[in-house]
Amino acid sequence: MLTWSEQFATGNALVDTQHRMLIDKINRLETLLAGPPPSKAVCDELLNFLGSYVTTHFRFEEGCMEKARCPMHEKNKQAHAAFLDVFAKFKGRYVLEGPKPELLRNLQTVAADWIRSHILSVDIQLKACKT
Ligand SMILES: [Fe+2]
Repeated sequence: MLTWSEQFATGNALVDTQHRMLIDKINRLETLLAGPPPSKAVCDELLNFLGSYVTTHFRFEEGCMEKARCPMHEKNKQAHAAFLDVFAKFKGRYVLEGPKPELLRNLQTVAADWIRSHILSVDIQLKACKT
């Protein structure tokens, strides 16, 4: 389970709120997987939300870094594109295979590890770019 803490702070309240929301949804997936197999409708809703929220969040955060002339801007964009690629591949498998626990667990682990290390290595560098 991921917990947002001050070490994840980017200095931008909206970006931080969006990160909290993403962490919340990834944790929600973990909780779902700990119980009886979730229905396809519940998984569809969660994954659709996650997919669209991540896209909106990435765009917003990239805009913030660009405006702040953050030197991590390009690296951040590349990292986001790479994650969206992983997510799209997962969605492709999900459409074919349905809500298999193994597949969902894999996404949950990958997403949790990715967001944690991405925020800590890339996103928090926005803090130093504040003008
Ligand atoms: Fe980012």
